[in-house]
This record gives sequence, structure tokens and C-alpha cells, in this order.
Amino acid sequence: MMLDDKVKKVAEILGNQPSLTILTGAGVSAESGVPTFRGPDGLWRQFRAEDLATPEAFYRNPKLVWEWYDWRRQKIQKVKPNPAHLVIARWEKYFPSFILITQNVDGLHRQAGSTKILELHGNIWWVRCLKENKVMENRQVPLIQIPPLCSDCGSLLRPHVVWFGEALPADILEAAFNACYRSEIMMVIGTSALVQPAASLPLIAQQHGAIIVEINLEPTPLSHYADYSLYGKAGEILPLIDELIFKEKME
Ligand code: OAD
Repeated sequence: MMLDDKVKKVAEILGNQPSLTILTGAGVSAESGVPTFRGPDGLWRQFRAEDLATPEAFYRNPKLVWEWYDWRRQKIQKVKPNPAHLVIARWEKYFPSFILITQNVDGLHRQAGSTKILELHGNIWWVRCLKENKVMENRQVPLIQIPPLCSDCGSLLRPHVVWFGEALPADILEAAFNACYRSEIMMVIGTSALVQPAASLPLIAQQHGAIIVEINLEPTPLSHYADYSLYGKAGEILPLIDELIFKEKME
């Protein structure tokens, strides 16, 4: 099937469904200018995850880890949500049952207006006190003090994100599984589908009867299972689908 036909088919399916679950990855923010992890200019091509995104790396050198997060926060602060984020935010109001599950920590979905959102890997604008485990918003860019310390108890603060070797927040993961059990259609947008447990969510949804639609620049391990794989930019394909859904509703 050609891309145009797939876009039409997906718009038709979505137009008739009351429930939608979306899973996003770094690709949805790529058109805003946020680097992905595994692409040609991906973060894991330039940096070693073992040095920057593990609890061991943080205990070894919190300053180095925070410098990297401070650099990423500076980059993210300068960018804006793109049409993909905006369409997803609009769909939350359109579908009676809607959940957005994201692996992204950049906060751009929230900035675009999404509220029914499960941030599987945390949020780069939140910090956590290592002593009291208290989670606080922190939007200081650049950070005045690196590493930052808790204003209440003086302990080290860490980014409130999930690092390699760490478990995902249990309540958020459970809510994500529940969304997969009940969703009739799941769209998987801009993720390499390589990192677990996020990569399993579409397969779980499919086992529970969901239609799987993937949007990505290129085939991924999920493409083999997906009912529809739409290859192209999320910021271009999502507005096309959106336009068709609403055109049909108006007719
Ligand atoms: P990746 O960098 O692994 O994958 C990004 C995906 O987006 C790739 O499959 C690209 O082909 C696709 N892509 C790029 N630009 C796109 C565009 N404009 N439209 C559509 N697709 C596009 O990022 P993730 O899958 O999100 O985890 O990575 C998953 C996790 O690995 C991240 O959350 C992070 C990382 O290590 C943690 O930090 C815990």
C-alpha cells in the first residue's frame, strides 16, 4: 500500500474508534530539534550511556552527569513543540478514551497541551532529592550550581529520569499496561522500539486485540508486527491523518 492510501486507511480507522493509546519516542521531538538517541547524530553515538545515564555513573561523578543534563536542558529550553506534538495534544480531547505514553523526558508533549500522559522515563525538568526522595520541578537554565543541592536538606539532587539498570516507576508502568489492555488502536510514533519494557507495550496491546499503527522514518523491530507502518516524518504524517479525520466528521 502507498503512503497516501495508508494515511487514508488509518484516518478511517481512527475516525471510528472511541479509544486510542499512543506511544512516542525521541523521533517525535526530532523535528523540534531535540537529538534522538540512536540516529546518525544520536546522543548514544557521541556519548557513552555507561558514563552518563546509570546510577553508578552518577555516584562516581555527579558533576559530569549534571553537566550533561544541564547541556541537554539548555538545548531543550530553546525548542518548541512541533506539529506532531500539537496533533497528539488535540486528539486527547477528541477520543473519549485516550492515553499518551512517552519515553521522552523533554516535556514537549506537556508544552503542546497534553495532560493525559504517562512519562515512562521521567522528566528532565524534575529533580529528586537523594536523601528524602522528594521530587521537585526545577527549570533553572543553566544551573547556577552543579551538582545542584536540595534547598531543604542540602543533599545531592539527581535528575528525575530513569537510567539504564533502573526500574521504571511501578505506578506509571502499571497504568501503561492497563492502557494497552483496553486500547482498540495503538499508534507507535518515533521510537526505535529497542528499549524495554516500552518496546513490549505495543505487542501487549496487540495480544489484547489492538490494531497497531507505526509511524517512523524507517522500519523497526516492531514493523513486522504492526498492522500499518507509515514511513515518513511524524510532523508531516500526523497532520495529514488529523485533517482527514476531521474532514470526514464535517461531511
Ligand atoms: P531512538 O533514538 O532509539 O529512536 C528514535 C526513532 O525515531 C528512530 O527509530 C528514528 O528512525 C525515528 N525518527 C527520527 N526522526 C523521526 C521523525 N521526524 N518522525 C518519525 N520518526 C522519526 O529513541 P527512543 O526509541 O525514544 O531512554 O529511545 C528509547 C529510549 O532509549 C529513550 O527513552 C532513552 C534511550 O536510551 C532512557 O534514557 C532511559
